[in-house]
Amino acid sequence: SHVTLEDDIVQTYLNQPVDLSEKYVQRKFDYISEKTSNLNSTMAARMASLPNTFRKLVVKTLTTNFAEATEVVTAQLPKPKANEVLIKNRYLGINATDINITAGRYHKTKITGFVPGLEAVGEIAEVGSDVKSFLVGQPVAYQGFGCFTEYLCVSSEYAWRIPELKPEFLGFLVCGRTALIGLDKVGRIKKGDRVLITAAAGGTGHLAVQYAKQKKCHVVGLCSSDEKEQLVRELGCNRVINYKKENLADVLQEEYPNGIDVVWETVGGDVFNQCLYNLAIRGRLIVVGFITQYKSESSYKAPGLDALPEKLLMSSASVHGFMLSHYSREFEYYHALLLGSFELNRIKVQLDCGEMLQTGAFKGLESIPRAVEHLHTGKSMGKVYVEI
Ligand SMILES: NC(=O)c1ccc[n+]([C@@H]2O[C@H](COP(=O)([O-])OP(=O)(O)OC[C@H]3O[C@@H](n4cnc5c(N)ncnc54)[C@H](OP(=O)(O)O)[C@@H]3O)[C@@H](O)[C@H]2O)c1
Repeated sequence: SHVTLEDDIVQTYLNQPVDLSEKYVQRKFDYISEKTSNLNSTMAARMASLPNTFRKLVVKTLTTNFAEATEVVTAQLPKPKANEVLIKNRYLGINATDINITAGRYHKTKITGFVPGLEAVGEIAEVGSDVKSFLVGQPVAYQGFGCFTEYLCVSSEYAWRIPELKPEFLGFLVCGRTALIGLDKVGRIKKGDRVLITAAAGGTGHLAVQYAKQKKCHVVGLCSSDEKEQLVRELGCNRVINYKKENLADVLQEEYPNGIDVVWETVGGDVFNQCLYNLAIRGRLIVVGFITQYKSESSYKAPGLDALPEKLLMSSASVHGFMLSHYSREFEYYHALLLGSFELNRIKVQLDCGEMLQTGAFKGLESIPRAVEHLHTGKSMGKVYVEI
C-alpha cells in the first residue's frame, strides 16, 4: 500500500526515537518546503497593503532597566533589498539576556539608537527581487538582533520556514536551539547520564529537560515554586528540587554521591559553585548564563573558585561556556529536529504571555518592558512572549 511521506516520517522517527539520521532531517526539509510552496496567491491577497510607517522599540539609554532604556518610535517602512524579505512580526520572544542587550553588553562600542530583541515569528510582507524561496503571507521565524519592531527587513537566509503562525515556534529559536545544541555539542549527553537542569521551568530550561529525557538521561530539575515543580515533573524530571524548600548542595550530596554528569548552569553565584563541587568523574558543567548577576551594573566574578583547578584535575571534569551565536552552523539540523519533534508531539512548548497577571496579557510594543520584567521576577513559566 502507498505510504505517504508523513507516515514515513512518523515511522522513521518512531524507529529512531533518539538519534534522527541526517536523511530524516533532509526529508523533513523537503516536506516542509513542499508544504509551504503550496501556499497560493490567495495568501498574497490576504496581506493588507503595506503602511508607509511602522513602530519599533529603540534603546535611548544603556542600562539593565529595560523600561528606562527603551522608547517606542515611528519610522518609514523600509523596502527589502534584493536578497531580503520584509517580515511583519506577530509574536516576539522575550529572553533573559534582553537586559544585557539594553545595557550595551553585546556591543564593543557603547552606541545607542539600536533596536533590541532577539527573535520573532511573523509573516512575509514583501520579498526582494532575488528571493525565490519565500512567498508573501508565508509564516516564518527569525533569530537575530533587532526584533522588537512591527516590521523587519532580514536577509532571506536568516528567515526560517514554519508550518503555521503560532507563538509556540518562538520556543524553537533562542531557547530550543540553545537547549538542544548545548546539551549535544557541549554536554555530550547520552543515555543514563545524570543531568541537572537549572531554571528547569524557564523558556530554555523546560526544553532542555524534555530533550535530556528524550535522550534517556536521568534528569534533575531545579526550580523555585510549587507551580514550577508541577510543570517540571509533568515534563518527566526524575527528581525536582525546589530550592526554596530544599538545599541544593545537601540533596546532591545525599542522593547523588557519585555526582552529576552534566550540569546545565544558567543561574550563577552559589548555584554555580554547588553544581561545580558536585560534578561526577568526567562531569561537564555548561556555563549557559548567570541570570542572578545580570541586573548588577558591574561585571560578574564568581567567588570561591580557588579550588577550581584541583577539582577539575581530580575529577577529570570540565567547565565549558556556550554561546548560541557561535553554533549557527548547527541551526539547520536542529530547526528540523525541533519542528519534527513538535509535530510528533515529542516536545511541547509552554508559553507565558502574562495572561494570568493583574496588569493583563502582553500585547503591543508598549508591553515589552513589562514582559521583560515578568521574566526577571522569576515568576514566569516557559517561554515568555509578546503578541503585536
Ligand atoms: N548562552 C546562550 O547562548 C543562552 C541562550 C539562551 C538563554 N541563555 C541563558 O539561559 C538562562 C535562561 O534564560 P531564559 O531566557 O530562558 O529565561 P527563563 O529561564 O525563562 O527565566 C529565568 C529563570 O531563571 C531563574 N532565576 C534564578 N535566579 C533568578 C534571579 N535572580 N532573577 C530572575 N530569575 C532567576 C528563575 O527560575 P527559578 O525561579 O525556577 O529559579 C527564572 O524563571 C539565562 O541565564 C540566559 O541568559 C543563554
